[in-house]
Amino acid sequence: MNDVASKAKVTVTMDGSNRSAELPLITGTIGPAVADIRKLYADLGIFTYDPGYGGTAACESKITYIDGDQGVLLYRGYPIEQLAEKSTFLEVAYLLLNGELPTAAERTEFDRGVMHHTMLHEQLRRFYDGFRRDAHPMAVMCGVVGALSAFYHDSLDINDPEVRRISAFRLIAKVPTIAAWAYKYSIGQPFMYPRNDLGYAANFLYMMNAVPTVPWQDNEILTRAMDRILILHADHEQNASTSTVRLAGSTGANPFACIAAGIASLWGPAHGGANEAVLKMLAEIGHVKNIPDFLARVKGKDGHARLMGFGHRVYKNYDPRAKIMQQTCHEVLAELGIQDDPLLDLAQELERIALSDDYFVSRKLYPNVDFYSGIILKAMGFPTSMFTVLFAVARTVGWISQWREMIEDPSQRIGRPRQIYTGAAQRDYIPAERR
Ligand code: SDX
Repeated sequence: MNDVASKAKVTVTMDGSNRSAELPLITGTIGPAVADIRKLYADLGIFTYDPGYGGTAACESKITYIDGDQGVLLYRGYPIEQLAEKSTFLEVAYLLLNGELPTAAERTEFDRGVMHHTMLHEQLRRFYDGFRRDAHPMAVMCGVVGALSAFYHDSLDINDPEVRRISAFRLIAKVPTIAAWAYKYSIGQPFMYPRNDLGYAANFLYMMNAVPTVPWQDNEILTRAMDRILILHADHEQNASTSTVRLAGSTGANPFACIAAGIASLWGPAHGGANEAVLKMLAEIGHVKNIPDFLARVKGKDGHARLMGFGHRVYKNYDPRAKIMQQTCHEVLAELGIQDDPLLDLAQELERIALSDDYFVSRKLYPNVDFYSGIILKAMGFPTSMFTVLFAVARTVGWISQWREMIEDPSQRIGRPRQIYTGAAQRDYIPAERR
């Protein structure tokens, strides 16, 4: 903790004893202050207890700030609404990695640096043949991104800033290729090699949708929509997958293995897998007339039914990304000539009813980034199984930015949480014949 220390304190006093501990109260630029508990065990012999880390700051960071009550999301201080409207994904990638918006020259050099690394080693193509054609593409992403370690591990001194820089370029550049090839493999079409003459989002759509037999026709509106969706998913403070990357990275594991761990964590339906789960939920509801029965099941908590795409650990207001996603949905559907998409109509009616239902309002459950993203992606031709893959493509920028910040933090140590033990006290072994 460097430039945010202060002299304020939090005093913790133990009942039934005259022992107390004075914990430094540290204030950041904006947002809640933190009580530094690093001396608590030494002073009072106790741990803190916070399953799910709902009230625990695991690190200091300068990358992303979220105000859950106000529905604010800032990347290096810039509001997500302004970046989504005025920036591009690679410019946001530069911002997240380096802390400032690039000059024109810096931008040109960065774009060239990323696009120079879009190809995969030819032996990685054969890696795909080991998967079943119907393998979930997130399984392929976990495997292939992790396998990048096999190609770079020996040249990976993560304490060398240049190695960290080129690893960031390699990961940001290669995940779209890996993702698009996972899709092509699943449909039995030939892999499309990346085209460095196209922009980042345009190249991804090209690798996803082009075939060798037909000239490729870029669509400006869809490319812009894809670029904006990538911006919205790029980073999000210390979410589960980012915390996974930080914890894996704290051991000194190479960045490719750490990003593969982040992909695995993102896959869960409570996290990045929610966009896929929203589409399955909408298909299950089927028609607006079934919404009341579905919501009754959710509120009755039978079978753990949840309103997927709703709720958030931090946002207790509208997720600002959901609003931008909804606007983008209308643009994409209009561009595609889809007048009224039954899925969008159903989702909007579901949102309207839920936001007037006390169960959701009292729990401050609002649409999150995943509620509308699946509808756009389905309209753009992505299969449901690719939705979380796209989330992983975008979030790789945030993961590698957070990984680098952790490695470069002089106070960082290996992550090693403790526990409260409620198992058996020490006891002696009982021979089998006496059990
Ligand atoms: C992402 O952390 C991030 O930043 C993640 C993310 C990112 O960019 O990295 O924003 C991306 O993961 C978005 C969230 C996507 N997940 C979903 O849409 C899945 C559905 N949402 C939930 O499962 C839930 O809201 C979570 C997991 C997102 C948050 O869970 P919490 O904070 O642990 O909340 P909780 O489970 O303690 O719920 C509090 C109450 C409970 O009711 P009670 O026990 O108090 O009666 O709200 C209820 C829950 O049952 N609740 C829901 C609900 N979410 C919470 N009830 C119905 N439907 C829901 N979606």
